[in-house]
Amino acid sequence: MNKLKKTFYVTTPIYYVTAKPHLGTLYSTLIADVVARWQRMLGNDVFFLTGTDEHGQKVAQAAAQAAKPPKEFVDSFIPAYKDLWKEYELGYSHFIRTTDKAHEQTVEKIIKKLIARSDIYKSTYHGWYCTPCETFVTEAQAQVAQAPLCPQCQRQTTAVSEESYFFKLSAYQDKLLAFYEQHKDWIVPQERSHEVMSFVKSGLKDLSISRMRSKVSWGIPFPGDDEQVVYVWIDALANYISAVGYMQPGHEQEFARWWPANVQILGKDIIRFHAVYWPAFLMALELELPRKLLVHGWIKVDEKKMSKSLGNVIDPHELSRHFGVEPIRYYLMRQIPVNQDGNFSIIDVEQHIAADLADSLGNLLNRMTMLALQHQTAHITAPRVWTSAAQQLQSSCHATVQEYQHLMSNYSFHHALARLWEFIDEVNKFFHEQEPWKVVKEDREKFLEIIAATAHSLRTIAYLLWPIMPSKTEQLLGALGCTMRFGEDMITPLCTDEWRVGMTLRQIEVLFEKPEVGVYEKSLENKEKPIMHEYISIEDVMKIQLMVGTIRSCESLEKSDKLYKLEVDFGDFGKRQILAGVKKFFTPEQLVEKQTIFIFNLAPRKMMGLESQGMMLVVEDAHGKLQMTTIGVPVPNGTRLR
Ligand code: MSP
Repeated sequence: MNKLKKTFYVTTPIYYVTAKPHLGTLYSTLIADVVARWQRMLGNDVFFLTGTDEHGQKVAQAAAQAAKPPKEFVDSFIPAYKDLWKEYELGYSHFIRTTDKAHEQTVEKIIKKLIARSDIYKSTYHGWYCTPCETFVTEAQAQVAQAPLCPQCQRQTTAVSEESYFFKLSAYQDKLLAFYEQHKDWIVPQERSHEVMSFVKSGLKDLSISRMRSKVSWGIPFPGDDEQVVYVWIDALANYISAVGYMQPGHEQEFARWWPANVQILGKDIIRFHAVYWPAFLMALELELPRKLLVHGWIKVDEKKMSKSLGNVIDPHELSRHFGVEPIRYYLMRQIPVNQDGNFSIIDVEQHIAADLADSLGNLLNRMTMLALQHQTAHITAPRVWTSAAQQLQSSCHATVQEYQHLMSNYSFHHALARLWEFIDEVNKFFHEQEPWKVVKEDREKFLEIIAATAHSLRTIAYLLWPIMPSKTEQLLGALGCTMRFGEDMITPLCTDEWRVGMTLRQIEVLFEKPEVGVYEKSLENKEKPIMHEYISIEDVMKIQLMVGTIRSCESLEKSDKLYKLEVDFGDFGKRQILAGVKKFFTPEQLVEKQTIFIFNLAPRKMMGLESQGMMLVVEDAHGKLQMTTIGVPVPNGTRLR
């Protein structure tokens, strides 16, 4: 029977394009990716939406400061987002930009519909505006004569007195309260719904939803009034429905298929927009409300707010370069509780990677496969009857899957991972106590059983971990001769799996390297002083032979995830073997037959048993990616730079 698949729609906030993505925005998007992957594993059809919030005063001001037209300015940020999301394996289905034509048209239609329903009227707004938060400060503070601080970010607001369109938010107060009452678990964590309810109970005022074009020109024109533009938050929130075809002719089925979203992810700073204004708009549009809001806390760094002025902003590229993408994905999901503010510390990252990933998980796989292969046990079949220790491990494995499934489905990722590591510890204990290295000498059948039970446990662990570390777990599965099978529920059968599938073991590269403590910090210190203030003499400069060469071949060194072996043609100076640590940034095809610059007289040195006879020069771009240095026109190989 062809069962109709369930759909699952997950969204992230859309990000202001006034800055490059950072650890905080990465975190919101990562949560959505983990949810999306988990739902795919449950066999559901998933739509994962993310994107950028590109209109409004904040963006216009930043563009003006950069002396760029707003559209050119916002366009310039998109690669930084898309590249980082790709680097961190964030597999969104669609990346929406609020400057997309289809989105702008939908916003216009939404406003027209609200006008037709008499939910919008024109009046004058007297109050305060916080540009960094793009918020009208209409509460108690607005009564004061002097500009109040924004209750959200504590920055100075500016006075606004202008004609504006208002949405009749006050008319939705009772409906909202009734909805919260009937859907007590609508907001996760539940504690956050109390602050939302008390805000609504304190009395909702109508909401200004437009700005004068003369003050804020970078926005969607307000339908029927050339002097006004749509308030950026209405524009932004509408992305969640415009992205799936709302009010777009020909997209009716698509919209019916995805809306309402199953879960919308957001940071605690933007809860009011999502838990009060957004449901009120949806009610006015007679649309269903999202099934759930998942509100996460803030990531602090060493217990302090991340900020440029404190100099503690963490660059996600830097992190992945040092620790790898997936260990960082793991750390963020394991160590930052989704329902609270979390602390990010490099020492902690290093400890978790070493203890949880390298020692507990990677080492277990390594020890088991090595021992099995040493004793000609590549193919694993289940024994007819499992003995009691293995049986106990199996039932503990089933219990783990069940609890993990429950915790993941309730968005309690850090608890789910903590629970899974309890099981990983148990498997380690089993392997250690059963002493297969001794047993193999006396009882081959028992040896096979110990290997099989460990391998089956690792297979289950790999499946459960896939949403968090997709590539590493696929490697782990590869070591067991297993693969992922998408399109069906892979989780539920694991709850009762009798460990009967056949497996074929093979030795793989070390799964997780232990980070060297303190190296990350040191590299930052070096990075922070890129400019040397000591002068060098012309003689010193002349000592360095910079020379143009063409890369004739590029071979990937299997044992290294960084190094390529290049053969470089320096014309009359012959060919040389040069090792370059650029594997993560270029494919061999991107390098071969390219002319670039090398240090020709660097003393030869050995890496991974091979001699490197020079150094290729590269440059880091604004997104932390290495790029080749190029010469304006082709020149003969062996030409020296001067
Ligand atoms: N553009 C609005 C959202 C519109 S959604 C219809 C916006 N953008 S933002 O770029 O400022 O922030 C987006 C998200 O990033 C928020 O959910 C916010 O909580 C999250 N983070 C930004 N810094 C953060 C941390 N330091 N820690 C965790 N998340 C934080 O608001």
